[in-house]
Amino acid sequence: MNKKKQDHGANPIDARDTNQYQGEYVASLVEKWDELIDWEARAKSEGEFFIQTLKDRGVKRVLDVATGTGFHSVQLKKAGFNVVSADGNPNMLAKAFENGRKQGVTLQVVQTDWRWLSRDITNRFDAIICLGNSFTHLFTEKDRRKALAEFYSVLNEDGILMLDQRNYDNILDNGFSTKHTFYYCGDGVKAEPEHIDEGLTRFRYEFNDKSVYHLNMFPLRKAYVHRLMREVGFQELTSYGDFLETYPDEDHPDFFIHLADKKYVADAQQFIKVPKENADEKGK
Ligand SMILES: C[S@@+](CC[C@H](N)C(=O)[O-])C[C@H]1O[C@@H](n2cnc3c(N)ncnc32)[C@H](O)[C@@H]1O
Repeated sequence: MNKKKQDHGANPIDARDTNQYQGEYVASLVEKWDELIDWEARAKSEGEFFIQTLKDRGVKRVLDVATGTGFHSVQLKKAGFNVVSADGNPNMLAKAFENGRKQGVTLQVVQTDWRWLSRDITNRFDAIICLGNSFTHLFTEKDRRKALAEFYSVLNEDGILMLDQRNYDNILDNGFSTKHTFYYCGDGVKAEPEHIDEGLTRFRYEFNDKSVYHLNMFPLRKAYVHRLMREVGFQELTSYGDFLETYPDEDHPDFFIHLADKKYVADAQQFIKVPKENADEKGK
């Protein structure tokens, strides 16, 4: 798992496997990840969006399932939330822990793959965050359903899932363009797709020192993600475009952030009272 170099095989366009995130986030890329996301610039662009949304919902306990190098876990801990930081990749978790320590925060880290999350995490949470375009690493519908079902299962009855994704509809339908202001904020790091089809976007990342890395990702269409979320049981869905609840479609936001509610509200008619005479009959 702890390979030194990325290896997408002889034909990288064929590398479409859910497990490949392990070989993509090699130690050397993890070391560079913070150059790509630039914590300070990212904190500025996200503002209080996640913290405020979680506070508004009365959230206390958060599970960060895609901790990466720890950006959101550290922010949320500093803001007073009780946070558990999970990720499947050990290089990422080690970096997150180190980043936390540098900022005076001790992260509670758990290495687990989303598909078996409830095997490793038995507590319940008010919110799960899966941010930084992470869900895109799952390459089969079976894996996506299983991961969402696992997220659903470790949420409290009225818990919420916040999951974001690139605007792949725009990439697939109109080609790639980015305002480059929201997520990957690092200056001088070039991030662009090298290949796009309905089953794969292969992104190329070139860093200041000219080193090059790739991530193969599944291009999630927004309506498809909504459908999966509903089908595993999430009830209410709200999507934000680049942190705004209302966004003109022609603006083509770079990112969508989906907020999915677990809380089940039964149909009103289930609460229609049984007429008294029938109730008396039943009681006999
Ligand atoms: C693009 S990084 C995002 C990290 C962080 N959330 C951020 O915004 O900077 C995606 C993260 O998801 C993790 N990941 C991908 N697939 C996973 C899986 N099946 N189970 C657990 N973690 C996974 C990777 O190890 C990686 O740390």
